[in-house]
Amino acid sequence: MDRREVVVPAGDMDRQRDYTQRLAALFQQLGHPPLAMVDTYGCQQNVADSQRIMGMLQEMGCGFTQDAGRADVIVINTCAIRENAEKKVFGVVGQLVHAKEKNPGLTICLCGCMAQQEAVAEKIKASYRHVDLVFGPQALWKFPELLYEVCSGRDRVFSIRNEHGTIAEGMPVVRESAVKAWVSIMYGCNNFCSYCIVPYVRGRERSREPERILAEIRELVESGFKEITLLGQNVNSYGKDLDCPMDFADLLREIDRIPGDYLIRFMTSHPKDAGEKLFDAMAACDHVAKQLHLPVQSGNSRVLKAMNRGYTREQYLEKVRYARSVMPELVLTSDIIIGFPGETEEEAMDTVALIQEVRYDALFTFIYSPRPGTPAAKLPDPASRAEKQVWFDRLLDAQNSISAGLHRAYVGKTVRVLVDGGSGDKTWPLSSRTAGGRLVHLKGDHGLIGSYAEARIVDSNTWALFGEAR
Ligand code: 5AD
Ligand code: SF4
Repeated sequence: MDRREVVVPAGDMDRQRDYTQRLAALFQQLGHPPLAMVDTYGCQQNVADSQRIMGMLQEMGCGFTQDAGRADVIVINTCAIRENAEKKVFGVVGQLVHAKEKNPGLTICLCGCMAQQEAVAEKIKASYRHVDLVFGPQALWKFPELLYEVCSGRDRVFSIRNEHGTIAEGMPVVRESAVKAWVSIMYGCNNFCSYCIVPYVRGRERSREPERILAEIRELVESGFKEITLLGQNVNSYGKDLDCPMDFADLLREIDRIPGDYLIRFMTSHPKDAGEKLFDAMAACDHVAKQLHLPVQSGNSRVLKAMNRGYTREQYLEKVRYARSVMPELVLTSDIIIGFPGETEEEAMDTVALIQEVRYDALFTFIYSPRPGTPAAKLPDPASRAEKQVWFDRLLDAQNSISAGLHRAYVGKTVRVLVDGGSGDKTWPLSSRTAGGRLVHLKGDHGLIGSYAEARIVDSNTWALFGEAR
């Protein structure tokens, strides 16, 4: 892809600001302060996208509500990764028909990964006639223009043209925390894992210019943000499409030179592209958390090949060994899919054995969900759902006892945590994270929110630690 075609020209971005002003004027005619509701499903990239959508809505003069009955604009930002996520969204969107009946002036928008799928857009067009605007992740930056088309009296608008994707700089953003921020460093995915819908809905890999990323992070650190998570479907591919020679490890080293008291995390890493250079950079950079989310998906090399993952079980284990040799304190997490088409019980148990060998701090576990249009969805899938559930439960049992054991080992120790908010719980009123990203329910004063604290760990369970601020 030619980079000049990838980056949205400044003039096009200016045009969006124009539409934003026109919408602000339209909303003023409502006779009350306009209210928007943004409902987000799925991954951190969607959370980050929703913060941009809120940024645009705020510039249109909107305040925010979680009450659909009071909203003038509703945006549902959707996820397509598994069927369950889609079903949930269809349920929520179906319910909105009542809000629309009560308030015919309400504008309902559906965006995100589901919206980019043609079959979904068709279904919305035919059966969910109360939805006014449908647009995919590639059209996010055009939201003001699309919303203006709808609000200025045009018919329903569907913008799901399947483009390779763009990079839009300078969009406004509403950050929901003053402590933690998301920074997208790249968009899209070229990997085409055989089970995954993402490359079809989020377009090809494209990296933001390093100067833009560094400037954004510098600004966040200067405004007091303490934890910045770099986002990309596969951050290890960062830079492959840039004109300047820079990869993800180089980028981490550049970021690390920004002075301040802050931590950098990142997700997601693809094991195929994560190697010694990255692990050495992580070990060398004081600002980079010694935390790695390195999804293995399966512990069986035949299944990994069928998944088109590009590594074997042994190669993965070798990477983990190297990463731990340079970062002994590394907190390691992973994603696992159980029940990929054709997976046997023995192969699934290879995955259980792998997690017992690696001893992850935590896992995100999923039962395979066929995604129409992906190669895996066409494969024979003889194992029953009940069988897969048995394998899945064994995996969970194994992981729960590993997590509980690793968490127990923290008890009695004092660790540095970032206090990121209140919890609403009387006994443990604060919520905080260790440098490795483990959750610590904390006793301490609310004044600690937004700062680092030393926490003595007094208890633990499978999912979290419990501590007292000192
Ligand atoms: N079925 C089940 N899990 C999936 N994932 C991606 N696609 C599917 C699917 N079709 C999981 C992978 C990925 C995580 C974000 O979601 O484990 O890493
Ligand atoms: Fe999906 Fe694989 Fe890309 Fe991750 S790397 S988004 S699992 S295709």
